Amino acid sequence: MTLTKKIVLLPGDGIGPEIVAEAVKVLEAVDAKYKLKLKFEQELIGGAAIDQHGVPLANTTLDKCRAADAVLMGSVGGPKWDTLDSSIRPEKGLLKIRYELGLFANLRPALLYPQLADASSLKRELVAGLDILIVRELTGGIYFGEPRGIRRLDNGERQGYNTYVYSEHEIERIGRVAFDMAMKRDKRVCSVDKANVLEATVLWREVMQSLSADYPEVELSHMYVDNAAMQLVRAPKQFDVIVTGNMFGDILSDTAAMLTGSIGMLPSASLGKDGRGLYEPVHGSAPDIAGQGIANPLATILSAAMMLRYSLGEAEAANAIEAAVGKVLDQGLRSADIYSDGMQRVSTVEMGDAVVAAL
Ligand code: IPM
Ligand code: MG
Repeated sequence: MTLTKKIVLLPGDGIGPEIVAEAVKVLEAVDAKYKLKLKFEQELIGGAAIDQHGVPLANTTLDKCRAADAVLMGSVGGPKWDTLDSSIRPEKGLLKIRYELGLFANLRPALLYPQLADASSLKRELVAGLDILIVRELTGGIYFGEPRGIRRLDNGERQGYNTYVYSEHEIERIGRVAFDMAMKRDKRVCSVDKANVLEATVLWREVMQSLSADYPEVELSHMYVDNAAMQLVRAPKQFDVIVTGNMFGDILSDTAAMLTGSIGMLPSASLGKDGRGLYEPVHGSAPDIAGQGIANPLATILSAAMMLRYSLGEAEAANAIEAAVGKVLDQGLRSADIYSDGMQRVSTVEMGDAVVAAL
């Protein structure tokens, strides 16, 4: 007997609702084929939640996510909420759900589909075959460190401050995720830090170093973040798994994403210790194109595949979705963000339909 698998959908803002709808369509199709017994429940996050509840993530929503097997999110934010006080901005909803669900490990693959090699801003030979996995720590570091705020100094001037802090157990658990992932890949981990300046990352480097004793087969290297940023655009194929803290991971994952031609193609998984996870595209809410039906749903569809693999134990269905996406690209179908001459331009809905058909 298979139990029902509960999935909370958080479409969010901007293009979020359009792309999540396509991912649901694809999930329903694999559900019919593989008898997954998926059950969906839709809730609000971000600006949509602020409009409805006055907060970017209501506690009732959080409770539903806690009780679910997985969460599939669209994106949050938009100009409408940009002027709100920083304590209730849409992004706070995302940070809160990551923190409250203990989703400390953010997996951001930067995988180049051969069909899209010419969409990259780098030369084809630099990116052909690119397959990097960025493992970003997601519930610590300067994003959550205390004290933080904006204070008034004695001389009347205001001062903004944040705290960059990492404890050994936080470094160790994200390190283990990176090493475990590397064991299933090319067995190379590059730990990115700023150990020439920041003590928190001196400790980071030490913990990674001692952890590597448990993984004799994995080759560990260290790189300063400024150099890593340069290497990513100079010779990106040198990397297999990159593990780094919250802020560096935020920045480097956008860079890595662009190497693949379109941030519209990249999925992500945010995992806790018990397999619970939140899945979302790496890209944002793209308010400039929201409602026009031209957003690329593939990153969200691929996030749904990651969800099947990592939280629901349905690797076969996940593989089927990923293969279907490859097929659709082979057919020459392209949303606006990945369009090039000679290809067939399709809408958000047409892209979703094509993936379903390819299944
Ligand atoms: C991301 C985003 C978020 C982050 C924002 C929206 C809070 O940039 O997921 O990379 O900084 O983590
Ligand atoms: Mg980011």
